[in-house]
Amino acid sequence: MTDTVRPEQSSADDHLSILRDMREKALQGGGQKRVEAQHAKGKMTARERLSVLLDEGSFQELGALATHSLSDFGMADKRFPGDGVITGFGKINGRRVAVYAQDFTVLGGSFSQVQAQKINKIQDLALESGIPIVGLNDSGGARVQEGVRSLAAYGEVFQRNVASSGVIPQVSLIMGPCAGGAVYSPALTDFTIMVDQTSNMFLTGPEIVASVTGEEVTADELGGAAVHAGRSGVAQFEAKSEVEALELTKLLLSYLPANTSEDAPILISDDNPDRMDEALNTIVSEDERKGYDMRTVLDQIFDADSILEVHQAFAPNAICAFARLDGRPVGIVANQPLVMSGVLDIDSSDKISRFIRICDVYSIPVITFVDCPGYLPGVEQEYNGVIRHGAKIIYAYCQATVPKISVVTRKAIGGSYVALSSKQMGSDVAFAWPTAQIAVMGSEGAARLLHGKQIRESEDPAATEAAFIADYRERFFNPYRAADLGQIDEVIEPKETRPRLVRALEVLQTKVAPTVAKKHGLFPV
Ligand code: HXC
Repeated sequence: MTDTVRPEQSSADDHLSILRDMREKALQGGGQKRVEAQHAKGKMTARERLSVLLDEGSFQELGALATHSLSDFGMADKRFPGDGVITGFGKINGRRVAVYAQDFTVLGGSFSQVQAQKINKIQDLALESGIPIVGLNDSGGARVQEGVRSLAAYGEVFQRNVASSGVIPQVSLIMGPCAGGAVYSPALTDFTIMVDQTSNMFLTGPEIVASVTGEEVTADELGGAAVHAGRSGVAQFEAKSEVEALELTKLLLSYLPANTSEDAPILISDDNPDRMDEALNTIVSEDERKGYDMRTVLDQIFDADSILEVHQAFAPNAICAFARLDGRPVGIVANQPLVMSGVLDIDSSDKISRFIRICDVYSIPVITFVDCPGYLPGVEQEYNGVIRHGAKIIYAYCQATVPKISVVTRKAIGGSYVALSSKQMGSDVAFAWPTAQIAVMGSEGAARLLHGKQIRESEDPAATEAAFIADYRERFFNPYRAADLGQIDEVIEPKETRPRLVRALEVLQTKVAPTVAKKHGLFPV
């Protein structure tokens, strides 16, 4: 607690000792007992986290001495320098970044008017300087003693989150509780990273849920990292530990530019751009019932160890990832044939469209790998709006002006052919493997639709149907008709994919797409 005495007449030494004393108190947070309690929960303090996140010696703190001015509710003697949040700027791998870290050891990191002012200041600084902002959240929510003042202050943070959206990267780490309206700042930022076991996010906690709906759940079951990374999709990443979450943040930022008027950093790659992998030529089986792991395909094509999956556990029938190709950052969108045959559904539509928009806003080219039987049919999908959600993918691809390249590895049937980066929707270069099946609908459905009467009236309906299916497959299940019509630019050997993509990207790096002046489109949210 602060208890600073200001001598009326003081020497320079006195001034310095006052400052040092105040700084020392700021470094202590909520005191030794609360720091120990924080460690006992398996959590680091805010300052310890910042020391892992930022380059050594780079942190410049602002507002370390700010305190609240509340005198009632017993708060007069509960004043801590910094008021429960550490704000400032520093560097990550030599690149500038603004940061704030809530300090749970001070009044549970609760969000006060002073916290808001400090965070706002750092948000403004980040936006004006064009640098990313990283927020470390660990808080019991609005500071109850401040009433509506702390509640209203959330609005000031949200306003800045939205102003910064599409200008600078915003990353939220959830490293403890994040409840009530506090969840909406992370939800407005580009990426949310949660820590397994020690973090949770929910609008209303387990007790209120039990009293309102009668559902009994633990905090982890309601809003733990696994829930939000896998089920709700609220978190793009789940880390096993705080250190892993902080390291992940550094890695993530390495794929992004400092702001949307800059390009993401290009690294010098020691992976040969002309590398070809024979194994790719046989990875897709003639027998389409045999799946293959799209991750193996991607691993062999992109720079070694460069793939960072986003939303890995959410909608695993699709893969979205940052990667590097000859050192250049790219975004990958791919179907995963091992999960639900790579079909598109509501969740994968949300996942893919969000990722395309992130790539587009940060000028990161999008490379799409297509092996998809189409949108998922079913009552539940229709009732929950697969049309509305599926439209997001189409909107996002059509709107994206970054270089767009597609590779059809196997199925591109019906809606998936059109929706997943087709030439007609602005794909710049469209490749297909010889195993590609580009057709308006599946062979069984087409045979029944076109020849149902003949099949039913034939002496051997099963054999007749099989013959029509085989005929349809023979005619349409290949890439050559689409190549003939210019819908595919080139049919390539799978092993050539890496060098082909490298060259296409090289050409497209100066792509200029015309933009139409309008306020904004109406994205089908
Ligand atoms: C003031 C708070 C606080 C809060 C915690 N503390 N939350 N002080 N306002 N919101 C204080 C506690 O009094 C305690 O102080 C210290 O922080 C540590 O809290 P504990 O409860 O001892 O810690 P723990 O057992 O780990 O529990 C953590 C917790 C719990 C689960 C987060 O504190 C909790 O349930 N807090 C309230 C959560 C909540 O309902 N928030 C919503 C507020 S309304 P001492 O001095 O004893 O160390 C809201 C709406 C915003 O946020 C809407 C914006 C649009």
